[in-house]
Amino acid sequence: DWVMKDHIAEAVEAIRRQVGDEEVILGLSGGVDSSVAAALIHRAIGDQLTCVFVDHGLLRLNEGDMVMEMFAGKLHARVIRVDASELFMRELSGVTDPEAKRKIIGKLFVDVFKAEADKLKAGEGGHKGATFLAQGTIYPDVIESGGAKTKKATTIKSHHNVGGLPEQLGLKLLEPLRDLFKDEVRELGVALGLPPEMVYRHPFPGPGLGVRILGDVKREYADLLRRADAIFIEELRQWKDDATGKSWYDLTSQAFAVFLPVKSVGVMGDGRTYDYVVALRAVQTSDFMTADWAELPYGLLKKVSGRIINEVRGINRVTYDVSSKPPATIEWE
Ligand code: XMP
Repeated sequence: DWVMKDHIAEAVEAIRRQVGDEEVILGLSGGVDSSVAAALIHRAIGDQLTCVFVDHGLLRLNEGDMVMEMFAGKLHARVIRVDASELFMRELSGVTDPEAKRKIIGKLFVDVFKAEADKLKAGEGGHKGATFLAQGTIYPDVIESGGAKTKKATTIKSHHNVGGLPEQLGLKLLEPLRDLFKDEVRELGVALGLPPEMVYRHPFPGPGLGVRILGDVKREYADLLRRADAIFIEELRQWKDDATGKSWYDLTSQAFAVFLPVKSVGVMGDGRTYDYVVALRAVQTSDFMTADWAELPYGLLKKVSGRIINEVRGINRVTYDVSSKPPATIEWE
């Protein structure tokens, strides 16, 4: 619509004015905010923007390829993909405490991003040297960090974000989504040509599958979990609720599989199996502070569990998490 077109034109103009002929770096995570920021900035300044996409090996199935296809393939943006999964797996090996895992992932993420940003800053690879760091900060983030002092005491899980990075890098900040609420960011994303499935995705935590694999994180576990999770999400998108016509993906606020490093006995053909367990989690919430477990149709659960057990060798049992928040949290770690 014309209001959105006007808004884009204005935002594009503002970015061009602020950046001039300088260069910008942006950390692309695949999440809604950084994606929309990237699309908007790219619309404004094209190749003066370079996106850095750090793949920590704890993303969902095919996520890295999808991000590259969208930004490098369709939008023709400059994107550097850094496969840092070896490093993350090595540093996480043997670490079982959830907060310790979060800290390691958060720190490595910043280290890897900084190393790439330093190269771009120095003007390597045909760049003249970046002077801006763009971030997908949205209005609620601005408010939240303003109130951080009072909130901190009650923080149950440390949500890693890249605070303080611009100062460390000696770059100026570019935050074109600062005045927007989440809904507006989504509308903007669609208007910029991002696919609705990307823009209306459930939130995904920064530490990714690192907090959905209980305890020690291993590549083998991540590979099994990715496949189970993809089946769950695919079926949620497919199953429509009769009353509303909406998919169960859209009827839930967040849904995912959790890997339990526990083995249980099963039968398959004439043989006995002794394999891992996956828990399915689906919640409905308006603010993620409290949440109800979703009353998914039994038929859907049956289909998902049947498919996971048949298609993902190594998992022979699927459970459904019927805990609400509080007292349980949405993530298991
Ligand atoms: P919990 O598990 O605390 O989650 O009920 C509430 C919301 O926060 C997300 N979450 C995180 N997001 N880094 C993030 O970026 C994190 O470490 C993290 N831990 C939880 C969770 O996915 C849910 O949307």
